[in-house]
Amino acid sequence: MIGIIGGTGVYEITDQAHDVEKKVLKTPYGDSPEISLFKLHDRDIAFIPRHAEGHDYPPHMINYRANIWALKKIGVKQIIATNAVGSLQKSIQPGDFVIPHDFLDFTKLRSSTFYDKRTVHVDITNPYCDKIRKAMISAGDLVDQGVYVCTEGPRFETAAEIKMFQTLGGTLVGMTGIPEAVLAREVEMCYASVCLVSNYAASISPDKLTIDEVFEIMEKQKHELVKLINHTIEFMPSENDCSCQKALEGAEVDEIDEV
Ligand code: HPA
Repeated sequence: MIGIIGGTGVYEITDQAHDVEKKVLKTPYGDSPEISLFKLHDRDIAFIPRHAEGHDYPPHMINYRANIWALKKIGVKQIIATNAVGSLQKSIQPGDFVIPHDFLDFTKLRSSTFYDKRTVHVDITNPYCDKIRKAMISAGDLVDQGVYVCTEGPRFETAAEIKMFQTLGGTLVGMTGIPEAVLAREVEMCYASVCLVSNYAASISPDKLTIDEVFEIMEKQKHELVKLINHTIEFMPSENDCSCQKALEGAEVDEIDEV
């Protein structure tokens, strides 16, 4: 089964699906995400809106563990995520799509592991699934790599922070990519993200940043994004043959810690 985690502005993926079944999954992490189940291109899909439809959790309050746990529980093996991002490079413009290959984590306050009761060090050298990334790259006209910088938010960044992220090799800045990608790897699920650039990052753009600008681009590009996801699913590899799904080999983990 393929999971889709829809970010800001992406709640419409189910519009073209028939026979959508909704399931609420009770999790040990305090929230019970609602998942939409349907078929696309003959694959079983489980869709979850990251910010929880109707709740609108801000990035630092999203229950990332509940979302990933629920997808794992329902049988998802591969995740396609979408994220709205600011661009750190002039050449990558609002409206562009980027498939990150690595990240820098500047989050501070999030529950970022399933393993609080024992020591599990998961390898995250290559945090995004190469096979899903390849499917995404075949699916449309997009930037095929980038380093995603994740901030805690919900505020936007200072000019000095953006300069630092550029110096460190960042390509994009967002608030929702981490710990999601890490949690997926911790439970041996394949995960990759298609990022939609909604704005130039602070100080690159001469204008004051507003969330309206983010929503405006998401609205404008949402059909393109849904098209990209559709094509990605067509090119998606079979479920079982990927190193992401063996991430815990040797770690002696039978099940995740439930709080
Ligand atoms: N910064 C952080 N997160 C974002 C941005 C940004 O400029 N745009 C969309 N999400």
